[in-house]
Amino acid sequence: MCGIIGVLGGHEVAPVLVEALRRLEYRGYDSAGIATLNDGRLDRRRAVGKLVNLSDLLVHHPLPGKVGIGHTRWATHGAPTEANAHPHLAGPVTVVHNGIIENFRDLREEVLAAGHSLESQTDTETVAALTRLHLARGMTPRDAAKATIARLTGAFALLFLFEGEDDLLIAARRGSPLAIGHGEGETAGEMFVGSDAVALAPLTGRITYLEEGDIAFVTRAGIEVFDAGGAPVTRAETRIDTSAARVDKAGHRHFMDKEIAEQPVVIADALRHYLGVEGTALNLPAALNFAQTDRITLVACGTAHYACHVAKYWFEQFAGLPVEVDIASEFRYRNPPLSPRSMAIFVSQSGETADTLAALRYAKGRVAQVAAVVNVTTSSIAREADLALPILAGVEVGVASTKAFTSQLTVLALMALKAGRDRGRIDDATLDRHLQDLRSLPGLMTHALALGNTIAAIATHLATARDVLFLGRGALYPIALEGALKLKEISYIHAEGYASGELKHGPIALVDAAVPVVVLAPHDALFDKTTSNMHEVLARDGKVILVTDAAGAAAEAADVWRCIEMPVTPALLAPILYALPMQLLAYHTAVEKGTDVDQPRNLAKSVTVE
Ligand code: AGP
Repeated sequence: MCGIIGVLGGHEVAPVLVEALRRLEYRGYDSAGIATLNDGRLDRRRAVGKLVNLSDLLVHHPLPGKVGIGHTRWATHGAPTEANAHPHLAGPVTVVHNGIIENFRDLREEVLAAGHSLESQTDTETVAALTRLHLARGMTPRDAAKATIARLTGAFALLFLFEGEDDLLIAARRGSPLAIGHGEGETAGEMFVGSDAVALAPLTGRITYLEEGDIAFVTRAGIEVFDAGGAPVTRAETRIDTSAARVDKAGHRHFMDKEIAEQPVVIADALRHYLGVEGTALNLPAALNFAQTDRITLVACGTAHYACHVAKYWFEQFAGLPVEVDIASEFRYRNPPLSPRSMAIFVSQSGETADTLAALRYAKGRVAQVAAVVNVTTSSIAREADLALPILAGVEVGVASTKAFTSQLTVLALMALKAGRDRGRIDDATLDRHLQDLRSLPGLMTHALALGNTIAAIATHLATARDVLFLGRGALYPIALEGALKLKEISYIHAEGYASGELKHGPIALVDAAVPVVVLAPHDALFDKTTSNMHEVLARDGKVILVTDAAGAAAEAADVWRCIEMPVTPALLAPILYALPMQLLAYHTAVEKGTDVDQPRNLAKSVTVE
C-alpha cells in the first residue's frame, strides 16, 4: 500500500516529508519521492529502493521549499523505477496517489492525443497530465483538480500541489484513506495531509478524516471539504493519541519480533476491555445479538481469513449456527445469496483492505447486521459496519500479521460465546469456565514464547528447505494454513497447510526426506487421528516437527525429527496459542535466511487495491 504525505509548512519541508515517509514505511514500498514548491516553482527528487536512497539523494541535491508532498510507492502499474516513482509532474502540477485508476488507459490516450508526452507507465502521471490539460483550458487549480477527479474511476487517494499556489493542497479520497492534520504547538499555523494518523502523529494530534468521495481544499487557514455530490460538508476534527501512534522497535531487532512478544499484554488488554477487571462479565455491544440469527458469514483476506476459519468451529460448536467462511475477493464477485436474518462479520487488521471493504458493502442491506472485527477503529471498514469490535492490538507495523491475528481470534471467541448465550445453548457455568480459560491465555502465551530459542534452533534447518508442509485437524487446521502463510510471506520458502486427513489424498506425494512437515497436535480428542497421519509421513522419511504438549510428546517425541512441547491448554485456546510457534518458526527462519522480515518483498501491510 502506498504512503502519502503533504505539508503546508512554516520551515524547510523536505526533512519533514522524509520523516513522515519513514513512519509510513511499514506499509511496504519499493520507491519514494518528494516534491516541493519554492519561489513559485515545483521541483522533485525520487529514488528507487529504501528511503535511505532518497535521503542520500537529498544530501547531494537538496530540495528547498516550505510546501511539499511525498510518497512511498508500492508498484501496481509499472515496475519500481525512478521514472515510475511519485510525485508525478506535469508542467505546473504535481500529484501523489495511493490506489488504482481503472480507466487510466483511456485518459492516457486523451492526453497523448492532446500533445502531451508521458515519461512513465503509471496511472498517476496520467492524472497529473489531465490536470495540466484542464489548466491549459483556463481552469483554476481547484477546478482543474475537481474536473480531473470527476473523470477517474477506481479506488484512490490523491494529493495535488500547484505552482503559484503555496498555500493550497488539494486532497481527494475514494477507496483509500486520507487524514488531514491541523498544526498545533510547534506546528501551529501549518497543515498536513497523510495516508493515516501514524504519519501525522509527531506533527499534530488534531486530525480530520476524509470520508468516501470527499475532496478537500487545504490551506493554512483551514479546510474546505466537498462530499461526493459536490456539496460543502464539515468533517469532525478528532484528537488522536499521538504517543500510541508513535511506533518504535523498543529494543527488538524487528517490529515483528516486538509484536510477537507483545501478545500476552495485548491479549490481556483485550480481555480486560471485554471481560472487565474481574474477567467474569462478557461485555460485548448489546446491539450484537445472535438470538434471531439464522446463519453467519465470515469474510476476510489472508491471515484474517484464517481467523475466520477458526471462528467457524467456535460458532458451530457454541451457537449451533451454520457458518460460511469466504475469501473477500471471491465473495464480492460471487454475489452470494444472503439471508436477511443472517449476520455478516468482516475481519480486518487495517480496516482498509479493498476486497474486504467491497465485500462489506455488498453485504450491507442484504443481511440483518454487518459487524466488523478491526484493529484500526477509524478505518473505513470500522466506520461502514453496523457495529465494530476493536481488537485493541495497538499499531501493528510488521507486514506479517501476528498480534493482530491472536487478538482477532480472541474477540471472535468471545463473539461465539455470546452467540451461544444469546441462543440459550451455553449456561452460566459453561460460560464461566470458558471465560476462566480465556483469562489464562496471556500466561500460557508467555510460556509458549519462552520456546523461542528451541524454535530458532529448528529454524536453522528449515531455512534450507525448498518446500514445507503444515498439518492440523479441527480448529488447528486453519492454524496450519496460517503457519504456511507466515513462512511463505517472510522467508520466501514455499509452504502449504493441509488438513491432516487430507494429506493421503494427493499431497503426500510431496513427502520425502527433504520436506519438513510441521504437525500441530495438542493431546486432544483428535490427537490419535492426527498422529496416524503423521506416521504416514514418517513412513516416507518425512522430517516431522511435532508441535504438541507434554502428553503428546510422551507418546510421539521419540519418533519425530523435532518436537516443540507447548504448555497444556484448554481446547478453546489451542488454535490461539499454537499460532505462536508458527509465528516464531517463520520469524527465525526468515532471520536465518536474511530476508527483510518487517517489509518482505512484494508485500504491503494493507492491500487497498484489488
Ligand atoms: C498476513 O500476515 C498478511 N500481512 C496478509 O495476509 C493480511 O492478513 C491480509 O492482507 C489482510 O489484511 P487486513 O487484516 O488488514 O485486512
